[in-house]
Amino acid sequence: MGRTSIPDIIEKYDNGESLTMLTAYDAPIARQVDNGGVDMILVGDSAGDNHLGYDDTLPVTLDEALSNTAAVDRAVEDAMVIGDMPFLSYGTSLEESVNNAGRFMKEAGADAVKLETAPYGETTIEIIERLTELGMPVVGHIGLTPQRMNQIGGGYVQGRGDESSATLEALVETAKRIEEAGAFSIIIEAVTEETGKQVTEAVDVPTIGIGAGRYVDGQVLVITDVLGLSGESYKLSKQYADLSTIVQDAVETYVDDVQNGEFPSSENAFDPIDGRE
Ligand code: KIV
Repeated sequence: MGRTSIPDIIEKYDNGESLTMLTAYDAPIARQVDNGGVDMILVGDSAGDNHLGYDDTLPVTLDEALSNTAAVDRAVEDAMVIGDMPFLSYGTSLEESVNNAGRFMKEAGADAVKLETAPYGETTIEIIERLTELGMPVVGHIGLTPQRMNQIGGGYVQGRGDESSATLEALVETAKRIEEAGAFSIIIEAVTEETGKQVTEAVDVPTIGIGAGRYVDGQVLVITDVLGLSGESYKLSKQYADLSTIVQDAVETYVDDVQNGEFPSSENAFDPIDGRE
């Protein structure tokens, strides 16, 4: 059996099953996420602050995103792998956008690509249309789109229709245009619950929420938040494990063992001399 395909996603959507997506940025975690049974793995540009040590997503380069995607691709057997196009790897021209999206599929093994769209973002919508026509499956992304953080001015909830927040109507209309352009799914990030609901009702493709409330077709979270590795807790997320503590305890025990002569023991030595435990 191959990886989750678009028809598999659509079948679940048609049956009213909630869809699941998590991010991953490297092979070991991607393998665990895949074994855990998610439908889709997003190799997000959230790698910027969750994997590569940047402050946010903006510095992530195309090469870094391709390398992360290829690592995840090598580890994943079942989930659909979605490559996330980083800031300015699309939109500069149609030709460059198509070539860069193509690299996610041809070089990094992605099954689909995702790109963020500003409210009414005509340039991106045109790119989605072209990619779809050429056979590249696209996931749209609306709401709080972190690549526009310098314009938005911070992590403001969208759909409220004030100075730092697009109107609900603008987001519904943008989602409709993204669907029309051919995207097979749309991520909705950090919006009012009513916005998540109305966008979901307005389109016939699955919506995947992160901070979009309960009335969407599926959920996505950032894996480092889920595993307790990001050192942050966000209202829109949920921590399911405390790997920070587990990893730190393991490292402290290792340091103690080496310092106390507990590791390595004769069992870890090749042809041990004296059988010392
Ligand atoms: O980059 C990312 O991880 C994302 C999700 C938060 C949707 O875009």
